[in-house]
Amino acid sequence: MLWIKSLHIISMVTWFAGLFYLPRLFVYHAMSDDDVSKERFKIMERKLFHGIMTPGAALTVLFGLWLIIAYGLGIGTGGWFHAKMALVVLLIAYHVWCGKLLKDFKHDRNRRSHVFYRWFNEFPVLVLVAIVVLVVVRPF
Ligand code: HEM
Repeated sequence: MLWIKSLHIISMVTWFAGLFYLPRLFVYHAMSDDDVSKERFKIMERKLFHGIMTPGAALTVLFGLWLIIAYGLGIGTGGWFHAKMALVVLLIAYHVWCGKLLKDFKHDRNRRSHVFYRWFNEFPVLVLVAIVVLVVVRPF
């Protein structure tokens, strides 16, 4: 069980590395106007999203579900757990939105400013803080 929990946390850290860094790349990409930089950002974004972020998300969910089954489903009755799952759903929606933005950048269709991406970048920070407090403190 503790091995599965370790793998869950390692996958979650991998996922968050991408959730923090991809929108940062969008900030710099939105600020660049020469073709060499743009093409370099496209490669970095694609590799980060498909090679690190998405596998990290899939493994986090897989090991999370494995933990629920291993704990005998009873863990799913706490209010903190429902709140955590609601935040995970939001996080997955954010991940999917990142994929859509990635596609816009790939086809040079981005019209949003770097300021938008700076704010966009803050969302996963708030979710990480909230989820870690929920699972460790279990306030309700
Ligand atoms: C579908 C997605 C997820 C499921 C089903 C899930 C499920 C679980 C379960 C059942 C546990 C064991 C709880 C315990 O030991 O008391 C756990 C632990 C944990 N989860 Fe998740 N989780 C998911 C996503 C996440 C995400 C996105 C994060 C981080 C942002 C996260 C962070 C943690 C942490 C830090 C622990 C260790 C808590 C502790 O040992 O005190 N989980 N998860």
